[in-house]
Amino acid sequence: MRLSEINEETVEAASNLFARAWAAERVSCPSLPDYPLGGPDALRQEVASLAQRGCIGAFDGGRLVGYMSAGFTFPFKGHRAGLCPVTGHAAEAGRGNEVYPLLYAAVGRIWAERGDALHVIEHLAHDRALDRLLYELGFGMIVCERVRGLSAVGSSREHEVARIDLTLLGGIEAEHSRYYSASPIFVHKETHPDAIAAGLREIEDAGCAFLACFRGGEPVGYCAVGPQSHPEGLLLRNTNSAQLRAAYVREPYRRSGIGGALLDAAVTHAREAGFERIFVEHETANLSGSAFWARHFTGYVHFSMRHVDLG
Ligand SMILES: CC(C)(COP(=O)(O)OP(=O)(O)OC[C@H]1O[C@@H](n2cnc3c(N)ncnc32)[C@H](O)[C@@H]1OP(=O)(O)O)[C@@H](O)C(=O)NCCC(=O)NCCS
Repeated sequence: MRLSEINEETVEAASNLFARAWAAERVSCPSLPDYPLGGPDALRQEVASLAQRGCIGAFDGGRLVGYMSAGFTFPFKGHRAGLCPVTGHAAEAGRGNEVYPLLYAAVGRIWAERGDALHVIEHLAHDRALDRLLYELGFGMIVCERVRGLSAVGSSREHEVARIDLTLLGGIEAEHSRYYSASPIFVHKETHPDAIAAGLREIEDAGCAFLACFRGGEPVGYCAVGPQSHPEGLLLRNTNSAQLRAAYVREPYRRSGIGGALLDAAVTHAREAGFERIFVEHETANLSGSAFWARHFTGYVHFSMRHVDLG
């Protein structure tokens, strides 16, 4: 096995490796589109741009059998983080156990030179070889992207769902923002009323609909659904996929079917708006959200993170 940089001549082979990994992912997750990012050209461009950021290929007898890019550096949780996006790596089927340790070690050296002490790797959910390697290296999952088709959710019909104006959501959204910074999630979200109002307006301006269930004239659960926002759901860009941008049910009302009724209404909205599927991104430390989404969606991308000691 020989390691060398991916260049203009080998970038096409890298893009083809990713396309084959995507085809394998679709076997476990049939609601994914035929091609990520809207088509082969967009995928090639994406892989080519990552190849310029430090990208190592593993070659066996001249044939590319795996690649991994050092991707981006960004500030995250008080550290410099190195991020390898989901299109930044792939391995030939059956060769992952062999090539990923070599490729990660090479990318790890680049990240160490850059001073990146947090390593973040996005990967296809059914890439078992990489999943196991990351776990052994001390990575843990932080975020998951999940997708489903637009068949009915099969929730009970006892909860009425109405499309509402965002001005009704200030109170419940303030509670929603505080929910994430508490244990066990510990993810900071803006809680200032102005920031909350701006966040809701941004979702509305993106063309999303707000759907809610009421008790005593107050919304006790809501969700937002519409066109996808960047940068979430990278692989579903240009694929006519709707995104669930937010969902929250106030604690006393949970586990009585309100979330299911909201999701059913969101799926109906997406179908009537002409979308072909719907996806959601969530923090895995959000245990109630994770369990709920896992019941109704299939995970297709995991984000894993590791903190290393650079001395
Ligand atoms: C996710 C959420 C919207 C679901 O709303 P809900 O009204 O509780 O959903 P439903 O009653 O329709 O469905 C509940 C099902 O979800 C799963 N679930 C939800 N919370 C769970 C938990 N804490 N543990 C295990 N399973 C859970 C179970 O399958 C559960 O079914 P069960 O009660 O029969 O076991 C709600 O839990 C919530 O607001 N959580 C906090 C905010 C959040 O996570 N938002 C999503 C952000 S990405």
